[in-house]
Amino acid sequence: MGMVRFGVSLEKDLLTKFDRLIKEKGHANRSKALSDIVRQELVKKEWVEGKEVAGSVIMIYDHHKRELVNKLMDIQHDFNKIIMSTQHIHLDHDNCLEIIAIKGASLQVQKLADFLKAVKGIKHITLGMSSTGKGI
Ligand code: NI
Repeated sequence: MGMVRFGVSLEKDLLTKFDRLIKEKGHANRSKALSDIVRQELVKKEWVEGKEVAGSVIMIYDHHKRELVNKLMDIQHDFNKIIMSTQHIHLDHDNCLEIIAIKGASLQVQKLADFLKAVKGIKHITLGMSSTGKGI
C-alpha cells in the first residue's frame, strides 16, 4: 500500500485538541490517529449500509436460570449461519461469560444482538461492531 502525503488545514484550537486526544488515546502520531479515525468511520458506514460485517456479542448471565439459558441457546441455533463460534467461560459458581463471534450482514447481526438483549435475566450484554477487514 503506497503512502500519500497531503496537507491538512485545521483551526489552531482544534489541532491542539486533536494532539491532546492523540496523547490520551496513545496513538503513535497524527498520521496513525487519522488513519484510525477514517477506518472507524468506514466501519460505521459498513454497519449502517447493511454490508457484511464481523463482530462479537459478549454476555454475562447466571446459568442457574435455566429458562434464560435455553432461550439464549434457541436464539443462537436460529442464527447459526452467522455465528462463527461461541466461547463459554464459567466465571464463578453462578456467572457465565459467553463470547459469540459473528460474521454476516449487519442487519442480521444487529437482529441477533437485539434478540439476545431482549432475553429476560441477562446481567450484561454488549455488541462489538467491527469489520471483515476487506473494505477498510
Ligand atoms: Ni458457565
